[in-house]
Amino acid sequence: MAKRKLIYQIYPTAIGSLRDIADKIPLIAKLQPDYIWLSPIFLSPWVDGGYDVSDYCKIDPRFGNMKDFYHLVDVAKKHNIGILLDLVLNHTSSEHPWFKKSEQHDPWYKDYYVWLDKPLNWDSFFGGPAFDYDPIRGKYYLHLYDRSQPDLNFSNPRVVREFKQVIKFWTDRGVAGFRVDSANVLAEDALKSGILPRVSGFFNYYQTKETVAILEKLLSSPKIFTIAEPIGGEFLSHLRFRELTRKAFDAAFNVGTLDVADTFFSIKDHFYPINYRKWLHTLAKWSQEEKFSLAIESHDTPRAPSRFNAEPKTLAMLQFLLPSNYPCIYQGQEIGTRNAKLSNNIEDYPGVQSRMIYRRLRKEGKTKAQAMKQVKLSSRDNARQPIDWGEYVMQESDDNSVLNFYRRLTELWRQDPVLINGSLKIKKISRKGLFEFERRYKEETYYVHLDLSGRTKSYCKNSRGEIIVTNR
Ligand code: NOJ
Repeated sequence: MAKRKLIYQIYPTAIGSLRDIADKIPLIAKLQPDYIWLSPIFLSPWVDGGYDVSDYCKIDPRFGNMKDFYHLVDVAKKHNIGILLDLVLNHTSSEHPWFKKSEQHDPWYKDYYVWLDKPLNWDSFFGGPAFDYDPIRGKYYLHLYDRSQPDLNFSNPRVVREFKQVIKFWTDRGVAGFRVDSANVLAEDALKSGILPRVSGFFNYYQTKETVAILEKLLSSPKIFTIAEPIGGEFLSHLRFRELTRKAFDAAFNVGTLDVADTFFSIKDHFYPINYRKWLHTLAKWSQEEKFSLAIESHDTPRAPSRFNAEPKTLAMLQFLLPSNYPCIYQGQEIGTRNAKLSNNIEDYPGVQSRMIYRRLRKEGKTKAQAMKQVKLSSRDNARQPIDWGEYVMQESDDNSVLNFYRRLTELWRQDPVLINGSLKIKKISRKGLFEFERRYKEETYYVHLDLSGRTKSYCKNSRGEIIVTNR
């Protein structure tokens, strides 16, 4: 049987410094996570919320220093939690000294990035072309994301060596492993094969044996836990990726369950009302893949109760009663956090993604007000707001709170043989959000009735009709 690990994701600015995070660990520990995955804490100009790194071995001063990091690792260890760092391998910030030197044609660094004389017709995930002209170098460089995030050239052994050192640097400092950002688009294999895909094509071609070997060399170690993030929501290409990188990664983070329109960062993804039937089928399908995580929120999505217009407890049941070896809870999910009250002015948004959605909608002819309405619904900035700790503490003392419900569910997920081993049989999935399924193990069957619309009570009962858990 696969290892089972519960992961708790923290987007650091939503909590504060590393010391603030350490202070919250005793509370978070009551959910019994095996790992805390920290979104990037490295030095960064923060164009893409930390996913634009300018030094992988320095902590961004907004979070503190190395001493604070050691303290965090220690506190986590005391609660049997390992810290996972977010390794952004695909690209750096354009402020990274490697890029500065590469631009200037420094002989050691000139091939650290993907430079071409002529741009290809690829689109970037944040909108606009994926190649930009760099006047200093006099060539075009690739950026799958924002223009300030140049793609590294993973065919260059020097780049691979750099990351070997980065990984060693952090494992020497006590990290338990890594979540690897954009892990399926690291090598631009299509450049070599001469194929010129537009964005969706990135997800569909095989990583070459060479890339897989690189990943294995970098990441496979019995001592660290690694979870890849293959981007894009396409089931088959993710399975293929997972198969190919079996040795390199222990698990894969499942963006498939977050991308309800099979696209990544796309505005289509956030149109309302959500197609429940499609989303529930997607969740059920993914949940049976033993090496994939099951998440319903992340730092890249709006808050689930707002997005799916559903009660937090029903969403919790969905996540923890389906089979799942690697469920991920996103900070604040456990208190039922909803979308924030975001500004009506796009200039106030820190995130590149919100601005991209706005620009696209305006280009499609939407008025400012229409575009802002959509941005507020779909922005990932919704998920990056400070956690309401006052609410958290209040929920602690309320037996019926969402928080205590999550704690009971994570305990069940950990202990209950039917939930650990049971097969899944889908009985009904309706357009209006009714989801019925069975979990069967040996002589026991659990009947699960979930109603995302909230019209009826959601429950899980055993074959004797006893309620195992219910939202009301
Ligand atoms: C995926 C991350 O989850 C997202 O937040 C980031 O913007 C992109 N990768 C680029 O690193």
